[in-house]
Amino acid sequence: MINDFMMQVGMMAPIIQAPMAGGVTTVELISAVSENGGLGSLGAAYLTPEVIRVTAQAIRARTDRPFAINLFVGGQEREPTNAQIDFTSDILEPWAQAYGIEAPGAPGPGIALDRQLEVVLDVAPRVFSFTFGMASPELLRACRSRGILTMGTATTVEEVKALTEAGVDSVCVQGMEAGGHRGTFLRPFEESMFGVLALTSMAVQATSLPVVAAGGLMTGGAIRAVLDLGASAASMGTAFMLCEEAGTSMAHRYMLALEKPRPTVITRAFSGRPARGIINRFHEQISAVQHLCVPFPALNDMTRDIRRAAANAGDPEALSLWAGQAYPLARDMPAASLMAVLLDEAKWFGA
Ligand SMILES: Cc1cc2nc3c(=O)[nH]c(=O)nc-3n(C[C@H](O)[C@H](O)[C@H](O)COP(=O)(O)O)c2cc1C
Repeated sequence: MINDFMMQVGMMAPIIQAPMAGGVTTVELISAVSENGGLGSLGAAYLTPEVIRVTAQAIRARTDRPFAINLFVGGQEREPTNAQIDFTSDILEPWAQAYGIEAPGAPGPGIALDRQLEVVLDVAPRVFSFTFGMASPELLRACRSRGILTMGTATTVEEVKALTEAGVDSVCVQGMEAGGHRGTFLRPFEESMFGVLALTSMAVQATSLPVVAAGGLMTGGAIRAVLDLGASAASMGTAFMLCEEAGTSMAHRYMLALEKPRPTVITRAFSGRPARGIINRFHEQISAVQHLCVPFPALNDMTRDIRRAAANAGDPEALSLWAGQAYPLARDMPAASLMAVLLDEAKWFGA
């Protein structure tokens, strides 16, 4: 049955294609999911304000269905020291050499969140979702006055309650099975590792807001399970990564489809912030010394060229291979077909 949350957002299917920064969430993927009744989400954290604007226009040129834009609203721990920058540059040098590029220098200033937010408010997607922290009261007010629904990410019940008190419109609970960065913002991430079923069950009791469940959901059966627990929709990231419309690199696709899957692991090696991905050599080597490197987001900046060069070379060993725990269940098919299969498996018959 179409629930209040879906009605409010304008969705026909209880499926959100999760935001995935770094190029996976293309205009084609987002618009295909939204056109097929779900909610496509743009992972915009690494995009300049200009690119966010142009991408939103391109989505609107393809569909008049609702979509979401997602940003990182926190996570900056502290400024990197010169010693950390020197250490990181030295440790990354052999990797850079292997791909024939220069060793990374000092991290850049990053993209200003304020300017990204200005564009989000201006283009007014149906939903603004965020992770790594709490949106300010001014931002939540500004969204409301423009008719933008807000969705905060929580990894604990404490975070669900904090987001509820802050006045968001919905909460996405991210189970520890999830691919990509942990959204944790109140406690150390090690204390915030709840399975999606446990977290969803507790969240629906802790808040009267709509709860969206994320993490390891790959099949219609998993969607049905979280709906049965009281979630209003399932947010699925890894499930969409093999769709032809996704911007997933060839090397990443290859690893997601391995006949003998490698395990996933939570690693800080690529960005300085815990994230789940398929284990590889870069993780194995850098994790051991990551605490001496620059913190998030500076490490993300300093590893960027190496990751890009590895992707261009088709080498998965230095790529951030973000993937949820259940990634071996990802299906290589167009997004419209995947939506149809998922709804069929979930025995979703709409209104
Ligand atoms: C490649 C990748 C990039 C991600 N980037 C973001 C992001 O930019 N913002 C965000 O809120 N979550 C991000 N996530 C987390 C997803 O939104 C979602 O929580 C996760 O994919 C759910 O778990 P699943 O991958 O097992 O479906 C990312 C996940 C992946 C796999």
